Amino acid sequence: MIKQAIIPLAGLGTRLLPLTSVFAKELLPINGKPGIEYILDECIEAGIKEVVFIISKKKQMIKNYFYNDKFYKKIIKKKKDPRIIKEYKKILKYKKMIRFVYQNKPLGTGDAVLKTQKFIKDKFFLMLLPDDLIIKKNCSKSMINIHNRYKSSVMASMNVKKNTVSRWGIFKLSKKLDKINYLVKDVVEKPSINNAPSNKAVIGRYILPKKIFSKLSKQKPGKGGEIHITDAIQSLIYENNKFVAHIFSGKYLDCGSMNGYIKSSLEIAKL
Ligand code: G1P
Repeated sequence: MIKQAIIPLAGLGTRLLPLTSVFAKELLPINGKPGIEYILDECIEAGIKEVVFIISKKKQMIKNYFYNDKFYKKIIKKKKDPRIIKEYKKILKYKKMIRFVYQNKPLGTGDAVLKTQKFIKDKFFLMLLPDDLIIKKNCSKSMINIHNRYKSSVMASMNVKKNTVSRWGIFKLSKKLDKINYLVKDVVEKPSINNAPSNKAVIGRYILPKKIFSKLSKQKPGKGGEIHITDAIQSLIYENNKFVAHIFSGKYLDCGSMNGYIKSSLEIAKL
């Protein structure tokens, strides 16, 4: 069973400037609710019991959001507003399941994952990238089912336009397991159009094996001088570890870019 999830939250969010100049992008409201709460709700619904947040000193605001008890208690005592009481209870529920670790240097997603090593208990864990919102169907839940069926690692995937491949991790697939699940032969971080093995991209949901930590601890920086999770996954695949690419059926919203962020509120309002 997958019971633990990790969420890298130390990113600077430059694609969303000026909104992120003094504010954490994951707390920005999407149709009246902070983006991170959508991600946490997806985890809870998928049966996750503990979530590790990787933040930085600059993103301390995220921890404060969940640890503002004094303030809530004071307001509730004064106003007795049922809406605020309900919201505070929800925050307390989240707080109970969150642990925090710090990544103060932006060395990449792989480095962020490595920071969670001491918290991970089971053989496999879930990772969600908070920029990637998937609505209409719980992607994490589907991936956990696939993990249980194939006893493998799993990554979410979607077909992207050929001229955007250099924005994503891109899969080379081998065997088709069924209509929506493929065995991964290779995965390349942000290839050029000419070097892309397909137009199937990695989207920010991963079920990873605990043994990825030993790969990450030896991992050299890759594209852009960062330590990429994609490169560690690639070395595990080369050592015959099974990874399944799952073509998810929900709707993907790229909340890390300005256009995507604006669109996400409109899409969620339609639900
Ligand atoms: C990260 C991953 C990339 C993946 C993408 C999905 O890239 O490194 O492989 O396709 O998330 O959103 P980033 O968005 O951090 O550039």
